[in-house]
Amino acid sequence: MSAVNEKKVAALEAVKYIKSGMTVGLGTGSTAFYMIEAIGEMVQNGLELKAVATSDETEKLAKKMGIHVITLAEAKRLDVTIDGADEVDEDFQLIKGGGGALLREKIVAHNSDMNIIIADSSKSVSKLGKFKLPIETIPFATQLIIKELEGMKLAPVQRMRGTEDYKTDENNDIVDIDIWDTDIKLTDLEQQLKTIPGIVETGLFLTTTNLVIIGKGEKAIIKK
Ligand code: 5RP
Repeated sequence: MSAVNEKKVAALEAVKYIKSGMTVGLGTGSTAFYMIEAIGEMVQNGLELKAVATSDETEKLAKKMGIHVITLAEAKRLDVTIDGADEVDEDFQLIKGGGGALLREKIVAHNSDMNIIIADSSKSVSKLGKFKLPIETIPFATQLIIKELEGMKLAPVQRMRGTEDYKTDENNDIVDIDIWDTDIKLTDLEQQLKTIPGIVETGLFLTTTNLVIIGKGEKAIIKK
């Protein structure tokens, strides 16, 4: 079965956790797309909910689907957030940010009572790091951060969009780093990266996930 179908299978399973009256966090990416589409249909069929979007792209799609989008400040707290991932391991640790939305995604996940990750089976890994870890940096500091990360042997590469620097919704840069061979524990690595001024956030989501739903063939594998 194709990755596209596995994404749909996972998304359709995840939306079963949404109940009327909830405030829901909407993730970003091609897997989240199917979840937003499914929620849109539920709303059109009478489900009442409010949603917080993790990116401009998601906000646009959600509004197009008739979903009532509010700000995080208006929401104050979210009942459940459903989002994709670039990699997820057996301990529910994630690499996110392939789509560049990691900062808002992490903020929304932090403010949610429950976080559900949906993914096709290719995203399920025994060790994180084949996917390059995205980190979001303040443009003023990006070049010096890259030098520092080179010193840490993390092979940083600034993300580009054509010939231009890639910019996030917050107008920051993304630097992708290679953590595959690092001996540093992920929790320590996360701390070390966050102590470098100008690194706003990393795509390591180590503690926020409560439930993982993997589409595998026709089945949704639910991990709690
Ligand atoms: C965006 C993300 C996405 O959740 C991640 O990149 C997975 O995307 P997709 O479902 O398209 O594979 O973290 O910042």
